[in-house]
Amino acid sequence: MPIHQNNQIWILETEHSAYGFGFNRSGRLVHTYWGNRLPAQHDYPSPSDSDGWASFDGPSEVLAEEYPCSGGMNYHEPCLKISFADGVRDVRLKFQSSSYPAPEHLILHLHDPFYPLVVDLHYRIHPDHDLIERWAELQNQGELPIQIERALSAAWQLPASSVRRISHLGGRWNDEFNLYRQPLTPGVFQLESRRLSSGHQHNPWFALENGLADEQDGEVWFGVLAWSGSWKLCAETTPFERFRLLIGINDWDFAWQLDPGEIFSTPHALAGYTQNGFGAASRLLHTYLRSQLPHAPTLHKVLYNSWEATLFDVSANGQTHLAQIAAQLGVERFVMDDGWFCGRHHDSAGLGDWTPDPDKFPHGLYPLIRSVQDLGMDFGLWIEPEMVNPDSNLYRTHPDWVFHYPTRPNTLARNQLMLNLARPDVQEYLIQSLSTLLAENEIAFIKWDMNRNVSEAGWPGAPRQAREVWVRYTQGVYHVWNTLRQRFPHIIWQSCSGGGGRSDAGILQLADQIWPSDNTSALARLRIQEGFLQAYPANVMESWVTDADRNNLSLNFRFHVSMCGSLGIGGNLLNWSLTERLTAARCIARYKALRPIIQGGDLYRLRSFAQDGNPALLYLDQERENGALFAFCTRSPNPAAAHPLHIRLQGLPTQTLYMVEGQPLARSGASWMQEGFTLPLQPGQSLLLQIARV
Ligand code: GLA
Repeated sequence: MPIHQNNQIWILETEHSAYGFGFNRSGRLVHTYWGNRLPAQHDYPSPSDSDGWASFDGPSEVLAEEYPCSGGMNYHEPCLKISFADGVRDVRLKFQSSSYPAPEHLILHLHDPFYPLVVDLHYRIHPDHDLIERWAELQNQGELPIQIERALSAAWQLPASSVRRISHLGGRWNDEFNLYRQPLTPGVFQLESRRLSSGHQHNPWFALENGLADEQDGEVWFGVLAWSGSWKLCAETTPFERFRLLIGINDWDFAWQLDPGEIFSTPHALAGYTQNGFGAASRLLHTYLRSQLPHAPTLHKVLYNSWEATLFDVSANGQTHLAQIAAQLGVERFVMDDGWFCGRHHDSAGLGDWTPDPDKFPHGLYPLIRSVQDLGMDFGLWIEPEMVNPDSNLYRTHPDWVFHYPTRPNTLARNQLMLNLARPDVQEYLIQSLSTLLAENEIAFIKWDMNRNVSEAGWPGAPRQAREVWVRYTQGVYHVWNTLRQRFPHIIWQSCSGGGGRSDAGILQLADQIWPSDNTSALARLRIQEGFLQAYPANVMESWVTDADRNNLSLNFRFHVSMCGSLGIGGNLLNWSLTERLTAARCIARYKALRPIIQGGDLYRLRSFAQDGNPALLYLDQERENGALFAFCTRSPNPAAAHPLHIRLQGLPTQTLYMVEGQPLARSGASWMQEGFTLPLQPGQSLLLQIARV
């Protein structure tokens, strides 16, 4: 049993880590331990107690509360803020009971001693991945409504002395997944999205350490939030050497009326601990998230996407020409992007009307799909279900279905408005119209896009739900997507929001893949991918080779960049020379041979792009039989040294002999890892080398 209980103290053990908490003598739920697993139960500390520090600082100031609530003398960020019907805005939670729905799942049932509020704290452990999953469920067992003003998923407590720095990811459209490592000082450091998507600007991922951890060494606490709507992270260092990171649904402009008998569930927060640096933290998340994907363990096909080649100018003939060349190169899936549906000749019309444009496809999509299939590929399609153009039949029929305030003009972005997916009738319309599309056409792959963020988040006629839209919208997206998944279980889905605007562990329960950025420059992509892979696994990272950088980087280099994830092609193949097509065919064949290692293996970042522009990535299969090493040179590391890149492998068993392609001798894992070897790469050059056990 991985969960140990002794009186009202719990220790959750994973393969290498342990997490402890319990009720102290005063009845407060206090965090006790999170770190390396210890030999015996009595090694773990007991819940501490305190009367506080001074008349200014009560117990909440000093104690590490496992799920801090707003009330009493708690001046810090709480997980829970409630307003009861009589106006009392102070929550006290007491122990009621505990239960175990499964050996790896614990529920602490807490209740407010005066009001009929029950809070269940859920803990599920993933022993093989050293991960702990937490969420909370609030239930109103009384007869009057309860107002929820904040309900976060978890507070992750740590000694402040072990946390001096936070790593996080962010940027903007076309420039996502910059990796920031930032010192923490007393006070609150906050990251959030108020956009109804997880957002390009910040990603719901974090890593915490003492400022000294590196890829291979050091204690790292890390985690993600499985939520695709507005979210919030507060990392607070207190004057009493405590540190806590709270994460969950954003409470900005949020309120939820919990009616009698109702349950409100928070999204799930996932976090882990390792002693082995950022690299191990990423691998633990990768293997877990990969195992949870809807179609795990699928190997993704090499796809072609027509967006950058044709933009809105799509036709059955034009797409077929591209498909013919794609098939010759070895592409396995042909995806027609935007521009195929009713009235969609530019970005100011058509969104909402999910039927083929009769001018472009007079006989529907069938002839195109048939010719793609005759070429030996399957067919994929782009949709953007949450949006509507004012110039569309949907908007003309249901102008009230968009978010709006009657007294304010609607703000257009990319000429489109957002449907209010909190509305059940909007959800139903999308389920019906997209089901028809998917039932009538043999579609193997859908790219689900979202090309703007919210404005005028009003729902006239539903005053009660006014501030609930922040959660109900995301629940609506999940409901529509989930229903379609269940109806069409064979379809592979990709999440896109103008690139990586909706990349999170929540969407990965629905989407098999993510499009991390609209920026397809191979150089930019090296950096973007390095950030993306901190949190999310390589098999979900779709990456196209396009015509960006065509004049300054070899096709080989550009292929190598995209081969680090799920390979796709997005250039205008009609313009590719015979030599380029031959190179492409060779790279695609190579990728297919190595794909199980890249998509399913463990990733080791041997060198970082952020460090000197010359990254190297190693993928090793689980059995440590084979590996694929990518090395890129974009800058001269040392002009005097004639540009050799020094590489030291990682992750190999020390005594086993390995060959590295192009190297004269087999050497032990220890030798490849300690002594390493050099690669004579010049700026603009890259290598893909196979590694094999002898
Ligand atoms: C977004 C996506 C692109 C493409 C266009 C189509 O920007 O990120 O890949 O699909 O929409 O309009």
